[in-house]
Amino acid sequence: MQTTHNDKIKSQFDLRSSTFDRSVHWVTDPNLVAAHVKIADALKGKSLELCCGTGAVSRGLKEAGWDTYGVDISAGMVAEASKYIHAQVADVSRLPFPDHSFDLIAMRQAYFLLDDGPAALREVHRVLKPSGGFILSHLVPFSDVDAPHLQAVHTAKQAQMRKFHTTETLSEELRQNGFDVLKKSFVVVRESVTLWMDQAPELSAETRKTVCDLVAHAPDAYRKLRNVEVRDGEILEDWNFVLLLAQPRPS
Ligand SMILES: C[S@@+](CC[C@H](N)C(=O)[O-])C[C@H]1O[C@@H](n2cnc3c(N)ncnc32)[C@H](O)[C@@H]1O
Repeated sequence: MQTTHNDKIKSQFDLRSSTFDRSVHWVTDPNLVAAHVKIADALKGKSLELCCGTGAVSRGLKEAGWDTYGVDISAGMVAEASKYIHAQVADVSRLPFPDHSFDLIAMRQAYFLLDDGPAALREVHRVLKPSGGFILSHLVPFSDVDAPHLQAVHTAKQAQMRKFHTTETLSEELRQNGFDVLKKSFVVVRESVTLWMDQAPELSAETRKTVCDLVAHAPDAYRKLRNVEVRDGEILEDWNFVLLLAQPRPS
């Protein structure tokens, strides 16, 4: 039988689930997690994290008083997230919840992997309360200056990337799929590309080296904008995350 896109996602993230929290700095970065709590601070109640991974965002929401639920397609990730929140295996294009169940839905750093982003957004529209909020957060380029080379880095790293996103493409997907963007914020995380590649067992040694070389020897404008630094053999750079808080447009 043919291996589907989602089969490849499941095996990649099952393999990485037990070490995911330590595999890159951004996953548990306190400022990034806190920004999710802050952007939703006018809301309260029941939250759902889509593509929740180990539930790092939901752990912050739980501390802030949210009743936290999560779904992920990887059983390994769900096992990790279940240590902290109510988590279950599900595909975002078919959510196992009744209409208007949640006050807040969040999805961080997963939209680029989805086979059918609009199908997921339709499900968000369905299970979110009409007065609820949806946080779509994502790694994005800082500007047009670093965008083309960043796209090359992520294309080399992630064979399952369906689309390279910018703040503008994410905002447009939301608008086209029935959401109004109410708030936008950015968080910069200092990331270790060396750690990221050391913790990517799904990649060959050759691909890991390609990704490291692409960043270490990036064009000058990219290196300057992203503060690329090679210190004692470790490659560091700034990563830019956007958080968009959207509300469903009444249909
Ligand atoms: C890069 S990880 C991010 C995990 C988490 N959102 C975070 O920010 O820590 C992407 C996650 O998306 C999940 N995923 C990808 N496609 C999915 C789908 N169609 N339905 C549910 N989860 C999915 C993967 O299994 C993986 O856990």
